[in-house]
Amino acid sequence: MLLGLKAPQTAPGQAGRPGPGAGADRGVSAMTSGITHDSRWVQPGDVYAALPGSRLHGARFCEQAAQAGAVAILTDPGGRDLAAGCGLPVFVVADPRSRLGEVAAWIYRDPSARLQLIGVTGTSGKTTTTYLIESALRMAGHRTGLVGGVETRVAGIAAASELTTPEATDLQALFAVMVERGVTAAAMEVSSHALALGRVAGTSYAVAVFTNLSQDHLDFHDGMDDYFAAKAALFTPRYARAAVVNIDDSRGRRLAAAARIPVTTFSASGNPAADWHAADVRGGTDGSSFRVVGPGGVEADASVTLPGPFNVANALAAIVAAVEAGAGTRTSRVQWRPCCAGCARSPWAASLSCWAAAATGTGQSAR
Ligand SMILES: Nc1ncnc2c1ncn2[C@@H]1O[C@H](COP(=O)(O)OP(=O)(O)OP(=O)(O)O)[C@@H](O)[C@H]1O
Ligand SMILES: [Mg+2]
Repeated sequence: MLLGLKAPQTAPGQAGRPGPGAGADRGVSAMTSGITHDSRWVQPGDVYAALPGSRLHGARFCEQAAQAGAVAILTDPGGRDLAAGCGLPVFVVADPRSRLGEVAAWIYRDPSARLQLIGVTGTSGKTTTTYLIESALRMAGHRTGLVGGVETRVAGIAAASELTTPEATDLQALFAVMVERGVTAAAMEVSSHALALGRVAGTSYAVAVFTNLSQDHLDFHDGMDDYFAAKAALFTPRYARAAVVNIDDSRGRRLAAAARIPVTTFSASGNPAADWHAADVRGGTDGSSFRVVGPGGVEADASVTLPGPFNVANALAAIVAAVEAGAGTRTSRVQWRPCCAGCARSPWAASLSCWAAAATGTGQSAR
């Protein structure tokens, strides 16, 4: 059970459901309350996506879905005849699995577009950066959400995550729940698997962040070029309106040169060619402090009590992403620190979930 929100009968493994009316004022989508690919999870008003499985076709369960209150079936040509028997309208498309995200986004009225959503992709640093962004957004006055490999959060209510990125229908439902709960901005970890498997289809990011690319996850992808292509898909108008890219990474430089959306670059190693860079980095075992230098003379002091030079990159990425998402504050200092002594002693993941960003000062700074 996720989130403890008002959604009725949330099924195990589902990301939470928005309340009735999520599809209101949108023509046909107003007749539907949601979409699910598991007939056991169907609620009255849902579209049942009857997908081909490795053993059985989901269309075998259309009758069960209809009895639970499904209002329509979405299936593939192989499920057409079985689905036709249950008396509901049947929509047949060649590859329904790849369309689920878009259909769900339509049913829930494009919820991600109603958030300032920041997606983070890369081989490493996704979870860390996502938490840092969430706390920066909170600091800037947003009611926030988070979708990550460790947990999902909606306005401070947390639940453990089963997948780095939920399935497409669950993800759209989660965004709809966020909108319903007054969330205005969210940070999300976007794995290359999720991109390649279409789980983020239908999602609209205000900003997409690229951290880095190395040899991990090649078990899933067919070589580095395939892996890079999966990541690069996020940096297209289909998904994102703006990009924040690490140009200390060679693939990041390639991405920045090729992206078809506006790109803002950053460099934790101090490369002045980047739009934003870190300067005067002072690192130790308990974290780093550094100066953030941005376009037009923007400067701020930043510190993060996470060890390692890579967390300077993660913190810089978070600051730039938050600014690009419009959360820039007139602050001259950004500090990330554990919000209590308990979490300061906790393992990394646990302490991050309690991370707090604080800004002080009103000196000339971010836009
Ligand atoms: N920017 C970075 N550059 C290089 N290594 C990093 C960076 N950020 C974190 N790491 C290393 O990667 C580990 C995992 O960090 P994190 O969980 O933030 O990455 P992730 O991208 O979410 O990984 P996963 O794909 O496993 O979910 C950290 O403990 C650290 O050792
Ligand atoms: Mg992660």
